[in-house]
Amino acid sequence: MRSHRCGIVDESLLDQEVTLCGWVNRRRDHGGVIFVDLRDSKGLVQVVFNPDESDRFQRAESIRNEHILQVKGVVNARPDGMINPKIHSGKIEVIANTLTILSASDTPPFQLDDDVNEDTRLTYRYVDLRRPEMQQRIRTRAKMTSIMRRFLDDRDFVDIETPILTKATPEGARDYIVPSRTQAGNFFALPQSPQLFKQMLMMGGMDRYYQIARCFRDEDLRADRQPEFTQVDIEMSFVTAEDIINNTEEMIRQLFKEISDITLPESFPRMPYAEAMERFGSDKPDMRNPLELVDVSEAMKTVDFNVFSTPANEDGSRVAALRVPNGSTLSRKKIDNYTKFVSRYGARGLAYIKVNCLADGITGLQSPIIKFLPDDVVLSVMEKVGAKDGDLVFFGADKAKVVNDALGALREQLGKDLELLEGDWAPLWIVDFPLFEWSEKDKRFQALHHPFTAPTCSTEALRENPATALSDAYDMVINGYEVGGGSIRIHDEKMQATVFDILGISEQEARAKFGFLLDALKYGCPPLGGLAFGLDRLVMLITKTEAIRDVIAFPKTQTATCPLTQAPADVPRKQLRELSIKVKLPEQTKT
Ligand code: AMO
Ligand code: AMP
Repeated sequence: MRSHRCGIVDESLLDQEVTLCGWVNRRRDHGGVIFVDLRDSKGLVQVVFNPDESDRFQRAESIRNEHILQVKGVVNARPDGMINPKIHSGKIEVIANTLTILSASDTPPFQLDDDVNEDTRLTYRYVDLRRPEMQQRIRTRAKMTSIMRRFLDDRDFVDIETPILTKATPEGARDYIVPSRTQAGNFFALPQSPQLFKQMLMMGGMDRYYQIARCFRDEDLRADRQPEFTQVDIEMSFVTAEDIINNTEEMIRQLFKEISDITLPESFPRMPYAEAMERFGSDKPDMRNPLELVDVSEAMKTVDFNVFSTPANEDGSRVAALRVPNGSTLSRKKIDNYTKFVSRYGARGLAYIKVNCLADGITGLQSPIIKFLPDDVVLSVMEKVGAKDGDLVFFGADKAKVVNDALGALREQLGKDLELLEGDWAPLWIVDFPLFEWSEKDKRFQALHHPFTAPTCSTEALRENPATALSDAYDMVINGYEVGGGSIRIHDEKMQATVFDILGISEQEARAKFGFLLDALKYGCPPLGGLAFGLDRLVMLITKTEAIRDVIAFPKTQTATCPLTQAPADVPRKQLRELSIKVKLPEQTKT
């Protein structure tokens, strides 16, 4: 139907006849001449309809935005002064001699360059996808998977599909479940990841596996989370963490180079989890941000100010300071807003000290809290955080989790607001994670990653001291995003049973949930490990968008619905009966 793509027609085709198909981006009438910007996947070209042959011209007059046309015409140089240097076809125009309207469009719900709300964009996603930035993001995504596939294919990884209708894999979220008709009352779970299958593939001798795998997690959604998302999932046999880190790091370096000509460091820095939490309040710190938390618990142990001394003396609590260079210019209103901001993370306040003039000692400082603190403590803290005239120092004091969440988020927000980020790309590995974290709520240990993660110690040492055990796990973080995570897995039945035991999973429960894995471990399991990258997050980073929905063709909203298809939706009673399901809505329960 077409000889060329609109966006690539240029002066090399002068005087030649071309046949083009595309959408009407814009129509302009200019004293009898009609100009149409015709758009396809390659970009725009200007088509000119002269008013000589009435039939074609009449049809041209009926053209509206987003109609789809087929145009045959001759490539002409644009007159001087009409050249558009912004587009590839900007030096030429196509003088139309035939016009077919392939498809008419109603007035579109929005113009492509309109700033419309996301719900409307998602309802009419097929229109939204026509926008050049959406085209670019979705195409970049395809290029990225292609590069990663090639990288892995070249290294003997086998692309293997694993089931979608399966049994729960514990990755920490709620499962999406699917009722079985043939086994009434039983349910499949959609995979939160292919974790257990990839382990069994290694036991099956596949040696190296990968999959561009869809994962499903019913969890609270955020800017970088979707209920269904895609992993580049990898597993290897006979490896150490070092092998996996090196292989996957090389893949990411190659990916960034080929897609955007970005040179990432030869070897990504590594940081223990404990250090990341202490210095940045986060296990995915954005290393472009120069702000750091400084622990001042020690100095606050003996002060009378309970807000500080209580957490300073309590196990699992901390007092931390965050110095903001030149922050003393922050207005009262801004500080109040930041106080509100940290309260979202559970902080009960946000104490601060403004540093006017250090040479004046305590009188050179301004703060609602220094009256509660001994001068020497305040001054020693100022020294510890490296305060300079003109700075502002924030303080957080609470359970370590609250302080880390609150000041970690504040650090990120200040980095953005004050434009402090340095450099373009800052990848790093977070390593030495604790194997378990203690859940106050449930009064038991939980796996920080998943329960198949290998500890760095022996079974005996693990039994003796589960709270301090570290895992052989690693997360890749780029610019504050956790883009991937993985670990060496337990390949020993006894160790797996010990971990289940510490997690409070009874033998019976372990058998019911993971009996197949425990059995598989009896029949020969190679030492194994792997990692999964969040593909969507990698695409977000490379295409520089902050919304995960921008890099997925048909994403879900923040409330896990699809405005386009209206999913999830009601199903006919008959279908439910076949599944032996009766729905009882909350309203009905109340009566
Ligand atoms: P994990 O749960 O860390 O590990 O997931 C791996 C990566 O997937 C991405 N990710 C998400 N992206 C978008 N929306 C979500 N809801 C979402 N959840 C996770 C993140 C994350 O780093 N089976 C293990 C991997 C392994 O151990 O090999 C796993 O799934 O970028
Ligand atoms: P208050 O005595 O509650 O008025 O608090 C005095 C100052 O300490 C205020 O600036 C509060 O914002 C701050 N503050 C109170 N609780 C905390 C806390 N847990 N962490 C940090 N600052 C706090």
